[in-house]
Amino acid sequence: MKILRFDATGGPGTADFWIHELDVALWRDEVVATLGEDYSTQTAQSRWGETTMPEDMRFVHCVAVDGDDRLGVCTVELPQRDNLSLAYLSLVVRRGARGTGVGSALLDAALECCRSNGRSIFQGWTFAPLEAKGPRRVRPDEGPGELDADDPTTAFLLARGFELRLLERLSRVTLPAPEVAARQAEEAKDVVGDDYAVVQWAGPIPDDCIDDIARLVRAMSTDIPNGGAAVEETNIDAARMRRSDARYQTMGLDRLFTAVRHVGTGRIVGFSSQIVAPGMPTAQQAATIILGEHRGHGLGWLLKTAAHAELRRRYPHVERVATENATGNAPMLAINERIGFEPFGLSGWFERRD
Ligand SMILES: CC(C)(COP(=O)(O)OP(=O)(O)OC[C@H]1O[C@@H](n2cnc3c(N)ncnc32)[C@H](O)[C@@H]1OP(=O)(O)O)[C@@H](O)C(=O)NCCC(=O)NCCS
Repeated sequence: MKILRFDATGGPGTADFWIHELDVALWRDEVVATLGEDYSTQTAQSRWGETTMPEDMRFVHCVAVDGDDRLGVCTVELPQRDNLSLAYLSLVVRRGARGTGVGSALLDAALECCRSNGRSIFQGWTFAPLEAKGPRRVRPDEGPGELDADDPTTAFLLARGFELRLLERLSRVTLPAPEVAARQAEEAKDVVGDDYAVVQWAGPIPDDCIDDIARLVRAMSTDIPNGGAAVEETNIDAARMRRSDARYQTMGLDRLFTAVRHVGTGRIVGFSSQIVAPGMPTAQQAATIILGEHRGHGLGWLLKTAAHAELRRRYPHVERVATENATGNAPMLAINERIGFEPFGLSGWFERRD
């Protein structure tokens, strides 16, 4: 077995596109085996597309091969504009090849790459069933829930100095019929009244919203529960948001935005976004945020109902929405439960500091 390292990869039709196909296939197997179904909107093209903004986020891929056999991959993400001590790791080994040292070899190669780029904090995410089995459990630093400490993935990370910072609850909802979704959104608007107006778009962020959206994305990066993980504010401005617009196009994904404008000031004070992949029945909830001083007015409920109505109208192939929330994020979980989201799994946020 040997580890290959790729400091840049090409898109569809190029010689090393197989790395993204491998990565997506291995993660899909992992999700289906752990949670019973695949809910992700990721494709090989979207995984490659993520790498196309190297001025903001640099990607390195370590791949384990044995002859023609491709055994596993570790995608290393190195933020370039903030969080300069941090690296995100996405490490996955083919299920039939686990327990033979492939994961350890990939992790060693990835950590070496991280260190040579000045990184000393490493974060990664796992999938787990809703209910932990086994006698030994591990609890996160923040929020309720637990993982089976003897699950091979969890045990692998704990044995290598990673700690469980937070658990995220994965849940999904089947969207109501279009007319029901539209009615819910209208009712939510009536409750909120005339102080706020809904603005929606798919595709590039309108010029008159972009500074406010950038400000909200910055706020969101440190405002959500993180279990004490080392997270610095994301350094995002309008130019980076524009690059992110372009990146979604390259990824072959649509991003639907639903925002609320405070009529008195004209400012966008909250938004919710969902990712839609062509032909895939599940849309992925991305960010939802409302600025602190505008909370408590029913805007969270308004954002979600308006978004779901627009998803139904614009994307008839989308039947469900999947989301991830920190298990301790009571306000967001309450809105999601009210709208009908039901939990189906957990995701563990692990961190190691050297
Ligand atoms: C985490 C993961 C990459 C480890 O890969 P791996 O190839 O099994 O790793 P290794 O073989 O080097 O080590 C596996 C560990 O589990 C032990 N193990 C024993 N039996 C095992 C089995 N049947 N299956 C898996 N691991 C087993 C190994 O002995 C080793 O333990 P150690 O700490 O004593 O060395 C793999 O489990 C995986 O792909 N998990 C899903 C993806 C994921 O969540 N990744 C982590 C977040 S980024």
